[in-house]
Amino acid sequence: MTQPGHGLFLSFEGPEGAGKSTQIARLAWHLEAAGQAPTITREPGGTPLGTRVRDVLLDPELTIDPLPEFLLYSASRAQLVTNVIRPALDRGKVVVCDRYADSSLAYQGFGRGLDAALLRGITAAATGGLWPDLTVLLDLDPVIGLQRAARRGQPDRLEQADLTFHQRLRQGFVQLAEAEPDRFLVLDATLAEAELERMIWEAVHSRLPASRR
Ligand code: TMP
Repeated sequence: MTQPGHGLFLSFEGPEGAGKSTQIARLAWHLEAAGQAPTITREPGGTPLGTRVRDVLLDPELTIDPLPEFLLYSASRAQLVTNVIRPALDRGKVVVCDRYADSSLAYQGFGRGLDAALLRGITAAATGGLWPDLTVLLDLDPVIGLQRAARRGQPDRLEQADLTFHQRLRQGFVQLAEAEPDRFLVLDATLAEAELERMIWEAVHSRLPASRR
């Protein structure tokens, strides 16, 4: 958790095709309109190193075993936290991250079957223990999500994994949210975009310090 008065850290999570990008763009608009200048970033990515690691991780031509896959996501995350997220939070900014460590717990833990304690230990080292103040989980049946993602073009390395993998990680996200109900806002990603936008902004707005609403 970030310290009070030290910015606000928000993450968006969900299975493939859940509509994170659309909702992040709409949230960014609301934050700008409220006089904030949010830092919008994503995982993997968000730094020159992270962008290159992203290309490797999503390359459908590559075979990557579960542990190195997780370590690559963690490398991108460590660089992003140190170079982008913490400095922005220290300046009091709102940071919105498209995926964060919950994606590793869901995809590499529930999906690939890596041990949760191992994932949490390395994640603590990579992030210095930084977790979001609020995580929006856009929950969606992977059958629908993968169809949506397929309309965007050729599947990347993760999208082309089998349906049971995607079903496990979806359940993983739901379990993570149930374990931390104060941090997670779980929304049905099949709701209308405008309705989701309204619910997300309501949750974020109420977490902004009163002086900055
Ligand atoms: P994106 O397409 O939503 O930007 O995410 C990139 C892909 O990487 C997506 O399939 C989810 C996956 N991913 C993981 O498997 N583990 C992680 O820790 C993160 C951040 C993403």
